Amino acid sequence: SKLSIDILTLFPEMFSGVLNSSILGKAQEKQLVQFHLINFRDYATNKHKQVDDYPYGGGGGMVLKPEPLFYAVEDRLSQLPTHVKPRILLMSPQGERFTQQKAEELARENHLIFICGHYEGYDERIRQYLVTDEISIGDYVLTGGELAAMVIIDSVVRLREGVLGNQSSPKDDSFSTGLLEYPQYTRPADFRGMKVPEVLLSGHHERIKEWRRRQALYRTWQRRPDLLKNYPLSDQEKAWIAE
Ligand code: ADE
Repeated sequence: SKLSIDILTLFPEMFSGVLNSSILGKAQEKQLVQFHLINFRDYATNKHKQVDDYPYGGGGGMVLKPEPLFYAVEDRLSQLPTHVKPRILLMSPQGERFTQQKAEELARENHLIFICGHYEGYDERIRQYLVTDEISIGDYVLTGGELAAMVIIDSVVRLREGVLGNQSSPKDDSFSTGLLEYPQYTRPADFRGMKVPEVLLSGHHERIKEWRRRQALYRTWQRRPDLLKNYPLSDQEKAWIAE
């Protein structure tokens, strides 16, 4: 079925390249996803189309006013059947850290609304009374939520049925397996003396499978030991790592 994604932003033009290229573009052509770009400045209430204002209590910076975002969301909700209750996602460095598990959770929804602020803070009532999920894509600060929304959209849409070709299953992704991926090689078997590991040329499927598992574990232990904290390792696998 189709996933409907609404994006509330002051910079809708930032999205066109990302949403209309490659896998996301194909997913739209295949009617698997549909995007609505909404400039919430269109919902500003005063004659200057003002979307932000000075913070009460003083201090630097500007704050996004509640009315344009509430009105934009409510207008969109009024166009949907009353039983549809979309998640309303606020892009913010103060949010819950985005993970593959969260992507899988969002990919089970049929309608998502993204709110992207730019430069400035959000009036707290937006968080408290409008939003269902406040999400950060990592511990760094962007100029706006647009790039964060694009990251999340990309990772969610690729998990929907029919979006990826059958050759690449999302089940084998790093983080879905709980481990980083094993090293991969393609032809030639020898490039300037840099050789592909023998076992991969051997045709022994059992040995190849074991080699890959071992490499994935070793790579995870070397680069991301935090991922092994809650990972159920067999005694054999613990012995491999110890070697
Ligand atoms: N807006 C600014 N920085 C962000 C971040 N790290 N994640 C999500 N939205 C943001």
